[in-house]
Amino acid sequence: MNILITGGAGFIGTHLTRALLKQGHSITILDNFLPQIHGGVQDLSPDLRPHVRLVRGDVADMTALKTALTDAQGIVHLAAETGTGQSMYEVARYERTNLTGTAMMFDLLVRGAGPKVERIVVASSRAIYGEGAYRCPDHGLVYPSSRPAKDKEMGLFDPVCPVCSGPCDSIATPETAPFQPSSFYGLTKQVQEQMVFMFGQVLGIPSIALRYQNVFGPGQSLQNPYTGILAIFSNLAREGRTIQVFEDGLESRDFVYIEDVVDATVRSVISDLNGCHSLNVGSGQRTTVLEAAKQINAFYGGRSEIRVTGAFRDGDIRHGLADSSKAWATLQYEAKWDFSKGLVAFLEWAMESAPGHSGYDQSLLEMKERGLLRG
Ligand SMILES: NC(=O)c1ccc[n+]([C@@H]2O[C@H](COP(=O)([O-])OP(=O)(O)OC[C@H]3O[C@@H](n4cnc5c(N)ncnc54)[C@H](O)[C@@H]3O)[C@@H](O)[C@H]2O)c1
Repeated sequence: MNILITGGAGFIGTHLTRALLKQGHSITILDNFLPQIHGGVQDLSPDLRPHVRLVRGDVADMTALKTALTDAQGIVHLAAETGTGQSMYEVARYERTNLTGTAMMFDLLVRGAGPKVERIVVASSRAIYGEGAYRCPDHGLVYPSSRPAKDKEMGLFDPVCPVCSGPCDSIATPETAPFQPSSFYGLTKQVQEQMVFMFGQVLGIPSIALRYQNVFGPGQSLQNPYTGILAIFSNLAREGRTIQVFEDGLESRDFVYIEDVVDATVRSVISDLNGCHSLNVGSGQRTTVLEAAKQINAFYGGRSEIRVTGAFRDGDIRHGLADSSKAWATLQYEAKWDFSKGLVAFLEWAMESAPGHSGYDQSLLEMKERGLLRG
């Protein structure tokens, strides 16, 4: 297949490109090499460069998109601005790339550009669920809304049952959960997914939205201080600097290893599924942020102080855990990587890489100044 990967120079795109090339597909990448992610390295990974058709440009630029769409049979739409916290104050910027970029793509497709496109895969996110699924002892399955700042200020970090306001327990979130994004990034991912399905149906193009959880592994940006908590902690621990952990440290994430994510994405691109499908892509394993910080610090010799600060950011959720059983039933996707094993593979790669720059303090300052980081 001729496959267009938007954002293909990024973390997931680079790994995906390698995997699809190995299977004999032809790859076009459309990417604008966003400096926040790529720093000074404004090119594809050298092993990919000779084998890929590269269109340098913005997803919100019609001309670049039109060039990239020529001959495309499959589209994997990854290009996006991805910082949850940053999306709360760089609103127009996030809207432009994530929504206008997707709208432009469909403007072109409905006008006949990309006439050979027979499948679209879009990178959605667990962020569309907000707090996700919980079980209340009295009211069963519930979906709490965003946690009020006044609760978090008092150290009450756990969401409560939306019916009785009592305690409830986080459980794995299925795809049937309602859309309740608590960040603008999450909202853009929700709308992106809905746009792909709406126009997929109009154009008769089978479409799959992959709701990735927290993806990590070798090759993820060490430069971007706005997202990628494991990379941020790795940069700090490597220098023996203090690692600040928000809330009480017991917030948790479903960290899914890059190879598993690529496996699910390749299966989606080459599948013969018809219609529109939303699928969770997670590891099925819950890891607290504090535990992740401890493992990273231990890897680097334990020189950093880990400080649980009680501070909190608007837009952050308490727990993320995906129910990926539908992806198994639909694509026979199953995560193979355990968190600790994947973490060591990531950290060994990070240690060999140039250190990430120290924009993390600046990113925290930006949020503080805007009243989005408190406590
Ligand atoms: N990494 C994760 O944990 C995660 C989780 C859920 C969803 N996702 C989604 O997966 C996709 C890929 O994520 P990633 O981790 O590889 O991110 P990444 O930041 O490493 O890659 C994104 C790529 O998109 C490019 N890009 C950004 N804005 C662009 C624009 N306007 N025009 C053209 N290219 C542009 C960047 O230069 C970069 O190469 C994104 O859509 C993201 O929202 C990622």
